[in-house]
Amino acid sequence: MSSIISVRDLTKTYDSGFSALKSVSLDIKEGEVFALLGPNGAGKTTLISTICGLVRPTSGTITVGGHDAIKEFRAARQLIGLVPQEMPTAPFEPVLNTVQFTRGLFGLPANPALIESILKDLTLWDKRDNQIMSLSGGMKRRLLVAKALAHEPKILFLDEPTAGVDVELRHDMWRLVDKLKERGVTIILTTHYIEEAEEMADRVGVINKGEIILVEEKAELMRKLGRKELKLVLQEVLSRIPDNLSGFDLVLCAEGKTLTYTYDTQSERTGITSLLTALSDADIRFHDLQTTQSSLEDIFVDLVKGQQ
Ligand SMILES: Nc1ncnc2c1ncn2[C@@H]1O[C@H](COP(=O)(O)OP(=O)(O)OP(=O)(O)O)[C@@H](O)[C@H]1O
Ligand SMILES: [Mg+2]
Repeated sequence: MSSIISVRDLTKTYDSGFSALKSVSLDIKEGEVFALLGPNGAGKTTLISTICGLVRPTSGTITVGGHDAIKEFRAARQLIGLVPQEMPTAPFEPVLNTVQFTRGLFGLPANPALIESILKDLTLWDKRDNQIMSLSGGMKRRLLVAKALAHEPKILFLDEPTAGVDVELRHDMWRLVDKLKERGVTIILTTHYIEEAEEMADRVGVINKGEIILVEEKAELMRKLGRKELKLVLQEVLSRIPDNLSGFDLVLCAEGKTLTYTYDTQSERTGITSLLTALSDADIRFHDLQTTQSSLEDIFVDLVKGQQ
């Protein structure tokens, strides 16, 4: 897959003197879903705004679909739909008008059928004549998405698309992303809901203090850094781990009621079969067991902590 966005040595120092981006280089592949994760103030919105031409970089280059994002701003911007983190203004404007108007801003002819299908996809069609101020918070968010899609962009930026929305809308948003991806739209999203990245992303990038500290295929990231735990709830309290089990990576909880075995998801042999045999030899019985896998969230927290 070729790059649709290419960012090289990008820096942004705001007028206040604050350095929000420190030499960021990043390639976004055509057709992928890329999740940008990072704590508050990491530089996610700054990076997106710079790529979209809303914030002027201090140095570095950005190309979008082969166009220089600054010198060929209009051509680059035409390819991009942006769902901003902030809520819309224009409170008195009706929903349908505002979406139609946005399409017009890109110099495109009216396309009522397209706008209708976008609003229907986002369950806003019934609200088309409502003023924006009469929409709920979640509906306003959907409206931002509708506006971003009005000019049929090839690239969609979603800056925290599901912050503060209910579970149903979050899932609607995920479905919409799937649908757009199927149509070949490249999607870059930022989120604080790691499960969202886990659910949707092909690749994950982590930004912290204005620096990209990791870019990885999601599956690879989970495989590399993932640990798995097997927790055994014992029938009888155990005072210490018997000698025949000393070769296993086991932890006995303080009350002696659960044994936790940690194993590597990468290795071919997990050692579970031999552990169970050894438990049986030691006459240790359990009445429940569960496995848990370290989530992207654990991985993310470890990474960001490691940088402090
Ligand atoms: N216009 C501005 N002037 C000065 N500093 C700014 C400006 N905009 C953002 N910053 C600073 O740049 C840093 C990065 O902000 P940014 O909005 O990019 O973070 P973010 O990763 O999007 O955070 P969040 O998760 O809270 O949305 C912050 O320290 C912020 O205070
Ligand atoms: Mg932000």
